[in-house]
Amino acid sequence: MELATILCFFAPFLFLVIFKSFFSPSKGRELPLPPGTMGWPYIGETFQMYSQDPNVFFSTKIKRYGSIFKSHILGCPCVMISSPEAAKFVLNKPQLFKPTFPASKERMLGKQAIFFHQGAYHANLRRLVLRTFMPDAIKDKISNIESVVQSCLNSWEGKSITTFLEMKTFTFKVALLSIFGKDEILYREDLKRCYYTLERGYNSMPINVPGTLFHKAMKARKELAQILAQIISTRRNKKPEEYNDLLSSFMDEKAGLSDEQIADNIIGVIFAARDTTASVLTWIVKYLGENPSVLEAVTEEQEAIIRDKEESCEEMGLNWSDTKKMLVTSRVIQETLRVASILSFTFREAMEDVEYQGYLIPKGWKVLPLFRNIHHSADNFKEPQKFDPSRFEVAPKPNTFMPFGNGTHACPGNELAKLEILVLLHHLTTKYRWSVIGAKNGIQYGPFALPQNGLPITLYSKK
Ligand code: HEM
Repeated sequence: MELATILCFFAPFLFLVIFKSFFSPSKGRELPLPPGTMGWPYIGETFQMYSQDPNVFFSTKIKRYGSIFKSHILGCPCVMISSPEAAKFVLNKPQLFKPTFPASKERMLGKQAIFFHQGAYHANLRRLVLRTFMPDAIKDKISNIESVVQSCLNSWEGKSITTFLEMKTFTFKVALLSIFGKDEILYREDLKRCYYTLERGYNSMPINVPGTLFHKAMKARKELAQILAQIISTRRNKKPEEYNDLLSSFMDEKAGLSDEQIADNIIGVIFAARDTTASVLTWIVKYLGENPSVLEAVTEEQEAIIRDKEESCEEMGLNWSDTKKMLVTSRVIQETLRVASILSFTFREAMEDVEYQGYLIPKGWKVLPLFRNIHHSADNFKEPQKFDPSRFEVAPKPNTFMPFGNGTHACPGNELAKLEILVLLHHLTTKYRWSVIGAKNGIQYGPFALPQNGLPITLYSKK
């Protein structure tokens, strides 16, 4: 048969196939994509987003297109969402949206870490993490946290310090305490050396050749795994009832985790716990310094706790019921979480074509719930730019306040984070004052929002 004859024969079928693929839309294709622009091929709008404050980029788009819009960032088509309902929808539908991270980050933290998973494995890990960090389990840790607070504050007194760096030292120690319990002190220095190298490479270009930060970080990651393997094997020779920490929760026979899974998740929890809590503490120090009446109210509340203890001849160390009396201080934490919104957004990926509010979110696209824009919207919070802890005397509208995320992957460490902040603020405000060194304004992202240069201060005793 000649080519022309073959073409003539198949032409009607070919026409039908082409016509169908162009004009007979599948269920998904009937829907429009959200409004917005995709920028240049491949690079999309990455430069626009990073050449300015990312939040200005987002809020300009929201003004123009509304609470759901499309863009193209870091080589990926994305849908950004900034309404509380849409954020709740995306974060609570794990069957439609999965967490997504660059492969280099997965390699660095460990592929088996909780953040990267869904389904039964994820649910098991969450159960193990939550049982270590729920209020009943962390109540007993207060006196240990208090000792860490006191030794940190003593070592900063009379010195000029970079608040963020010192807060990182504090939150690192608390993280190790909750993971390794009383053995923390034995491993601190080795873990610190490796973890700090790993961290320096986390945001570097993922080029694994000798000399690069990434290469050093990957080497440190390997060493960290060896140290953890050693710790796990030492723990196997101890009586389980001696411990009540994350490692024992992971090593419980019923947990069914391999040593590698345990190591990946320990590194993951240190990563999740440390810079986040340290950034929030740094912002609190900044806001308290800028708002003397709030600082006074917090100090008064904390001094009242000491007075009550003295009057009733109670032991001086803090206990769980003391922390429940810290209402003003807790509102300062909430307002700081809102204003600073240290995690501006998170990433999910659509696992299938999803219809939302008449728009198509195509399979494979990234979806970004914009926490900071939700927290800074005047629809949700009156005068959103103002630091005003008293706004939390009334509960915020549902789903408008999600500093710890929402749904399946919401932060399991939020109670520990709040507790360590309360204990630090108790001692900071009752015994010390501070002055900021240099420029007082400006935000840097690394990747968490932080006051410029990590907030250098001089800390001095009140007496
Ligand atoms: C103020 C400090 C903290 C903030 C603002 C914070 C915020 C968050 C947010 C927003 C998420 C959800 C991310 C997403 O959905 O993509 C998250 C997840 C997580 N956080 Fe936190 N966090 C803090 C402290 C901590 C601490 C102290 C720990 C551990 C003790 C911790 C452990 C985790 C873990 C393990 C996850 C992953 C949960 C999962 O994937 O199921 N975080 N955190």
